[in-house]
Amino acid sequence: MLLDLTKLEQNVNEISTIAKTNNIKWRPHIKTHKSIQIAKMQMAKGACGITVAKLEEAEIMAEAGITNILIAYPLSNSRKLQRLQSLAEKTETTIAIDSIEQAILVNKAFVGRKRLEVWIKINSGLNRCGIEVEEVVELATAITKLPNLTLTGIFTHAGHSYAASSLEEVKAIATAEAKVVLQSAKACEEVNIPIKHRSIGSTPTFKFGAKIKGITEIRPGNAAFFDMCQVGLGVTTPSRCALTILASVVSCKKERIIFDTGSKALSLDQGAHGNKSVVGYGSIINYPEVTLARLSEEHGVGTLSSKTSLKLTDKVQIIPNHSCAVANLFDHYIVHHNGLIVDEWLVDARGKMK
Ligand SMILES: Cc1ncc(COP(=O)(O)O)c(C=O)c1O
Repeated sequence: MLLDLTKLEQNVNEISTIAKTNNIKWRPHIKTHKSIQIAKMQMAKGACGITVAKLEEAEIMAEAGITNILIAYPLSNSRKLQRLQSLAEKTETTIAIDSIEQAILVNKAFVGRKRLEVWIKINSGLNRCGIEVEEVVELATAITKLPNLTLTGIFTHAGHSYAASSLEEVKAIATAEAKVVLQSAKACEEVNIPIKHRSIGSTPTFKFGAKIKGITEIRPGNAAFFDMCQVGLGVTTPSRCALTILASVVSCKKERIIFDTGSKALSLDQGAHGNKSVVGYGSIINYPEVTLARLSEEHGVGTLSSKTSLKLTDKVQIIPNHSCAVANLFDHYIVHHNGLIVDEWLVDARGKMK
């Protein structure tokens, strides 16, 4: 797994500049890279803290010295809440709440401890976790009555932007994403519950949402690397994709070329349902005549639209469809700069689910 340092820095700098220009905070989601090195790079470039999906990611990043962590996941399992207690003692930790039942469980776990900061998660159309705008006042009021929790923010994740069929549609989703957060915050403030943090921003939507007045924070993850899903959405170009997989040709047949990269290297991810612009299982740089049409575990099968010069043992770079899923499959990033390998970074928080 190769990581182009120049592109990574360019991508991270761009997010940082967007946050600065719009005078808002930036809390990158580190589930994309799961790397202490990259999280620290993001902090050095102005991130206010990090977002994580897993308790394990939070623990590893806290251990490495990251002091402000949003666990954007509604933890409720008692064993995890116990571990959250010790994490919250070491580092400024905030977790997502998306039901009164969950809030009660978290509150109970923090009896006799420092109050835990919590943010309400709103559903802006992804229909995964998150409450509806109409339910926010009830949940916010319930949280304010729980003595061990402090409500300080409202956030949403517009992951449905991945299924958009045009940039116009992405933009409309970004507007709606910000609107539900701002409406929710307003409803809470009307009943005297202040909402300091109003956080939005997936990779497709954050550039648009960052400009909307009242939004205080963006949380892009994938934008550090980008990938063919983002290219398909029109969010970026292949030249900005920092993560690639180095594959070797292991067999050449009459109408197909076989690479040593199957689903265990590229993942079977083909992007969101409805996104028709992703073709195959990754894009082979400089060989547009080859479509990576099929993956089994250790084989990637390329079909040909015209004759190719590829031959046995040749190496190609493949831009994956979904870089976050791919990074989670490897132990290390081989970091390169101007065509030379300059370092090897661990994917610190992968495979640590316990
Ligand atoms: C809560 C939350 N915030 C931010 C993100 C980052 O999204 P993206 O990788 O599209 O930037 C995600 C992605 O799953 C998420 O779940």
